[in-house]
Parts: sequence; C-alpha cells; structure tokens
Amino acid sequence: MSVTSANELRTGGVPDREETARRLLRTSAKHSYDPATEIDWDAPLAPDRYFIPARYSSLYGTALWNRMSEEQRIALTKHEVASLYSVGIWFETILMQMLIRHVYDCSSGSAHARYAWTEIADECRHSVMFSRMAEKFGAPAYGPDWLVHQLGRLFKTISNGTLTFGGAMYVEEILDVLQREQMADESLQPVVRKVARIHVIEEARHIRYAREETLRQWPRLGPLGRAYSRFILAAVVYCATTRLIDPKVYAAVGLDVAEAVAAAAANPHWRQTKRFAARKVVAFFTELGLIAGPGKFLWRRAGVL
Ligand SMILES: [Fe+2]
Ligand SMILES: [Fe+2]
Repeated sequence: MSVTSANELRTGGVPDREETARRLLRTSAKHSYDPATEIDWDAPLAPDRYFIPARYSSLYGTALWNRMSEEQRIALTKHEVASLYSVGIWFETILMQMLIRHVYDCSSGSAHARYAWTEIADECRHSVMFSRMAEKFGAPAYGPDWLVHQLGRLFKTISNGTLTFGGAMYVEEILDVLQREQMADESLQPVVRKVARIHVIEEARHIRYAREETLRQWPRLGPLGRAYSRFILAAVVYCATTRLIDPKVYAAVGLDVAEAVAAAAANPHWRQTKRFAARKVVAFFTELGLIAGPGKFLWRRAGVL
C-alpha cells in the first residue's frame, strides 16, 4: 500500500497535512529550477516553429485561420502563449498574497507552513520567468482588463480557505494541461517547451497541496459559506477562462480585433480546448459539490462544462 493510501485510511480520506507537506518539501529540494540559469535566454527563436500546437490556437480551424499566412499563424501562437503567461503572472500574484494570508494563521514550526513559503518562492521564480519570456517574444503587456484586475484585487483580499485553494487549483490545472501538451510537442520552439517543463514539474506539487487543502477546507463550511464559495469560485473561473487570450494578440498580428474575437468565441475547436484543459478539475469540483447553485451559469458561460 502506498504512503498516500495508508494516510488516507487514517484520516478519513484526506492525507495527513504534515505528512503531505514533508513529502512535498523533499521533492522540492530535489526538483526545483532556477529559470535564470536553466534557460538559455540568448538563444534565437526558430522562425518556422510554432509556440503552442496550432490546434490549440484560439483561431485554429476558423475561416479567418484559413486566410492567414503560415508566418502570421506562427506569430499568433507566439502572442497567445505570451497572453497565457500573463494570466499566469496575474494569478500567481493573487495566489502569493493568498498564501501569505494562509500561512499567517499556521504554526510557524509546521511543515505545512514551510511548504507554503516554498510554494511562494516557486511562484516568484515563475512570474519572473513568464515576464522575461514575454519580453523575449516582443509581446506587449497582456493581461486581464481593468474590471478583472479590480475583481482580482477583491478576491485576493476576501478569499477563504476553500476559495484560495480551489481558485489556485483551477488556474494551475488549466495551465498545467496546456503546458503538458507544449512540453510533449517536439515541433515547438525549444524555449517554450523548457518553460513548460519547469512549470509542470513544480506545479504538480502545488496542485497536490491545493487539492488536499480544498478537501480539508470545504467540509468545514456551513451552508452559507458553501453557497458563497460556490458563487465566488464560479466568478473566478469565468474571469480566468474568458481572459486566457487577450484580444490585443489579434491586433499584434495584424488582424481585425472585432472579427478575430467573434471568430474565437464561435470556434468549436477553441471551446473544445478550454473544456479539455478544465476537464480534470471540473470532475473534482463536481464530485465535491462545488459546482452548483446560481454560479453554475458562470461555469457554462466560461465554456468549460
Ligand atoms: Fe506557477
Ligand atoms: Fe502554482
């Protein structure tokens, strides 16, 4: 029997908090990466290689896509991955603040607290890596619009335990699924695959930490806390999913923004990509009862149900 399943039996389904944290700290000590030295920042980009697999572009398969030149399609994927990085930075900054608030109430001698600090350090390196990469790609400052920026400010201030870790799990999972595809595709730009690999390895620990903490936090809530958490989580999911691609990416490659936004919104391939990225986390939240009530409408509008 694995360590995890023995723990799960002892603690009624959720592995022991300290034991999980100690395991995550051990893996962090062995497999953590410094992008400043791991990545060859001066290596030139290959002119003929895509930045994300073409089938995951928001315009893939549309009439607009068919009219675009190969060069323009490659440039679009470059700007799309920069936009995904900017959503990564936006949410990592939110998560760092929420983790700081979480650890404020933890015993400073616990492995659980030490892992929270370790994760914050990981996220600091990730945001620096994403920012430098977007700069290397010559991408303008992408990211959520003013309203979502302000909603993020509110969320990182008022989130409870379920929302901190449920929200983290959602954003980490969808980026993780897309980055696993980038990592595996040998035809892509080597630097994108390297960034994806570093992020995937370190995020696997974050996802585990968030998943188990969600399982501990959610049952502690009463009916009101649950209704509140379901609705706010749905709002986070809606904002994060609908802002994955900043409309400015279309202008950057010389497309008509209104036409491209409409084409992406109606694109069944892009909808399928979002559902594919969210499928695992949606199954987890569904089983837990976190997707229900009036907020379910937002999950549907986000296109991930
Ligand atoms: Fe990260
Ligand atoms: Fe993370």
